[in-house]
Amino acid sequence: MSSELKIVSNDGVLAGLKPQAPDALLAVMAECRNDPRPNKIDLTVGMYRNTAGITPVMRAVKSAERWLLEHQDTKGYLGPEGDLRFVDLLKPFFLGAALRGSDRVVGIQTPGGTGAIRLAGDLVAATGRDCAVWLGTPTWGNYRPLFTASRLRVEAYDCFDVKTQTLQFDQVQAAMGRAKPGDVVVLQASCNNPTGATFTAAQWDIIATTLADRKLVPLLDVAYQGLGEGFEQDVASVHTVLGKVDEALVCYSCDKNFGLYRERVGALYAVTKSGAVAQTAFTNMVSLARANWSMPSDHGAAIVRLVLDSKELSKDWVAELDEMRARVQSNRQALASSDARFAAFGAQQGMFSMLNLDAAKIATLKKDHAVYMAGTGRINIAGFCGDDIERFAAAVRAVS
Ligand code: LMR
Repeated sequence: MSSELKIVSNDGVLAGLKPQAPDALLAVMAECRNDPRPNKIDLTVGMYRNTAGITPVMRAVKSAERWLLEHQDTKGYLGPEGDLRFVDLLKPFFLGAALRGSDRVVGIQTPGGTGAIRLAGDLVAATGRDCAVWLGTPTWGNYRPLFTASRLRVEAYDCFDVKTQTLQFDQVQAAMGRAKPGDVVVLQASCNNPTGATFTAAQWDIIATTLADRKLVPLLDVAYQGLGEGFEQDVASVHTVLGKVDEALVCYSCDKNFGLYRERVGALYAVTKSGAVAQTAFTNMVSLARANWSMPSDHGAAIVRLVLDSKELSKDWVAELDEMRARVQSNRQALASSDARFAAFGAQQGMFSMLNLDAAKIATLKKDHAVYMAGTGRINIAGFCGDDIERFAAAVRAVS
């Protein structure tokens, strides 16, 4: 037998694979789903829930779906760039007037915000430059796997102290000082996942100036527009940053603000120095999409397009989103006033906050009180309904 043949085990090539742990968040989400206790409190995955504990299909989304069912007359391929009308309609959501019609901005549809982040990572990697991606921690657990899958180097820095619930702005500045020109800095526009903490307008201004001066590339993750302070307020940071930098990547998700989670609806935009660079970036985005998923699935983006192309449906969508935001805000304030240990959450925004609890206490909450949260102590504030907040506060007191 030749030595080349010997290196393949008798069990086959795939026998060489190492077992992988399931994604921690998705595992606890499934565990909660399978818990038969009727009084369980599910604060795991980041999904909006109404007062009945349901993640509803939004009214405007239902209407658009009905229209599609009646009138869509083909399911023919669109192409790797997806629905470009959808991509265009999202631009005014987060771009200031100067960039809206600019040939410096290009975008394509992606499978959710996660697909946009993965494609952004691949696009950066395709430049062939040796650059790092800077992540302020604690942060969303999937960034590192995504950027690592794009074969990029991740540099993590502390930017939030869970114990004191404070943002460590000096660490953010220090990290941007260490980053090299061309490095990518990941910044969530608002509704921080997992901390709920937000930079002030003055801090965003400093961040934007530093990014521009040091020629760093911001990757702006816009995943929760409309679920924080307000539709416009939630992207004020994006306006500030794009007003100062020459280059940026914007990853937009419609999964949360249109309640289209499982449809996976997002887009990646590249803001470049010139129209010529933008066109080249576009061709790269298209070919990377083709190599990843070939073409994004259409249904969710078609719904968003129909809603945004209709004055009536848009109005209804905005009204329902306003109701959703009001419920998240009211849950947040009720939680903050339920116990002194949650008081800091009142000044935070969006669906998430983080408890300062160790793994043993989080496990006891689950086992003895049927309270489920991410293993990091992150809770989804939109998950509370009925008398959950009082029961939750009592359970946390019991384990603390
Ligand atoms: C979350 O953080 O809970 C959501 O963004 C879902 C996900 O994909 O992790």
